[in-house]
Amino acid sequence: MEELNQHDRIFVAGHKGMVGSAICRSLHRQGFKNLILAGRDELDLTQQSAVRSFMAEQKPDCVVVAAAHVGGILANDHYSADFISNNIMIGFNLIQEAFRSGVRRLVFLGSSCIYPKEAPNPIRETQLLTGALEITNRAYAIAKIASMELVYSLKKQYNASYYSLMPCNLYGPGDNFHPTHSHVIPGLIRRFVEAEKKQLPEVVIWGSGTVRREFLYVDDCADGIVHTLRHFSSEQLDKLCKDNHWSHLNLGYGSDLTIAELAEIIRSAVGYQGMIRYDSSKPDGTRQKLMDSSLLRSTGWKPLTDVESGIRRTLDWYHSSENLRL
Ligand SMILES: NC(=O)c1ccc[n+]([C@@H]2O[C@H](COP(=O)([O-])OP(=O)(O)OC[C@H]3O[C@@H](n4cnc5c(N)ncnc54)[C@H](OP(=O)(O)O)[C@@H]3O)[C@@H](O)[C@H]2O)c1
Repeated sequence: MEELNQHDRIFVAGHKGMVGSAICRSLHRQGFKNLILAGRDELDLTQQSAVRSFMAEQKPDCVVVAAAHVGGILANDHYSADFISNNIMIGFNLIQEAFRSGVRRLVFLGSSCIYPKEAPNPIRETQLLTGALEITNRAYAIAKIASMELVYSLKKQYNASYYSLMPCNLYGPGDNFHPTHSHVIPGLIRRFVEAEKKQLPEVVIWGSGTVRREFLYVDDCADGIVHTLRHFSSEQLDKLCKDNHWSHLNLGYGSDLTIAELAEIIRSAVGYQGMIRYDSSKPDGTRQKLMDSSLLRSTGWKPLTDVESGIRRTLDWYHSSENLRL
């Protein structure tokens, strides 16, 4: 696999999303300025012929697949037909058409949530497809796994420099702070900020607060992705993935914390003085979800942002985007 050249044309699919925009920031910081970008209004990634024409016209050297139809547990559960079909189309169109048009290097983003529900922690790459999936996001997971199988097969059959990375829960600028459809960190930030403004006596959090989760600041994730684009050789990838019969690597923070610890960090960053109450009658979900990211770390990448600093930066971004909305 040749080194990524600073003049190479890099297509970041999904560049307006939280992860895609962080990848663009990281590429810019590291001198990669020749980016190809197209919003959904210019290129609907579910349309194969449009993706084929786009690849033929733009001729990227490298493709980063950060576009996906994403959503929280409720959306995944209620609209599973949309999740499986859109994600299979986005993944297959981008990967197949990239290969057809001669794209030299491609990275596809999976997710820690597609590992089996009961995978032992810390979760290693080899645990993919070793057990039943979480039913609420099974449709999404199967679409992701199908795309990862295509990536792996192109590498196996044609020795393409295509691989997948599996980020853990991400948070940071550009996150979705929707009142009912957000992930845990933006959801808690929004609720603590509102409770502080309205001087509410308590914030109620669903579940016992004892389950453990792993969170990575999105700019660290983006730097990890760019690190692999810049530094991985084909031989190194083969060596790293030799045991897993796939071509994917975990991209996590490396340690986890309880929801109660996380809530304390957010409460203190917001400056909320009221109480936190845990509603244990509500479901907790899986006890722990921590990945083993030692393979990727062995290549020289590590996250730089601790959870406290990452939360402060995310809160600053939330306040500034709130001001923009006013
Ligand atoms: N966020 C996390 O915690 C997390 C964790 C692990 C893995 N990941 C993975 O990272 C990737 C990006 O996630 P994200 O959090 O950045 O999601 P996001 O903020 O929702 O961004 C997704 C992007 O994909 C675009 N997109 C969706 N459908 C499209 C279509 N049909 N045509 C063109 N563009 C389309 C969206 O465009 P619009 O702006 O027009 O909607 C958006 O820009 C996903 O593969 C996800 O599984 C995320």
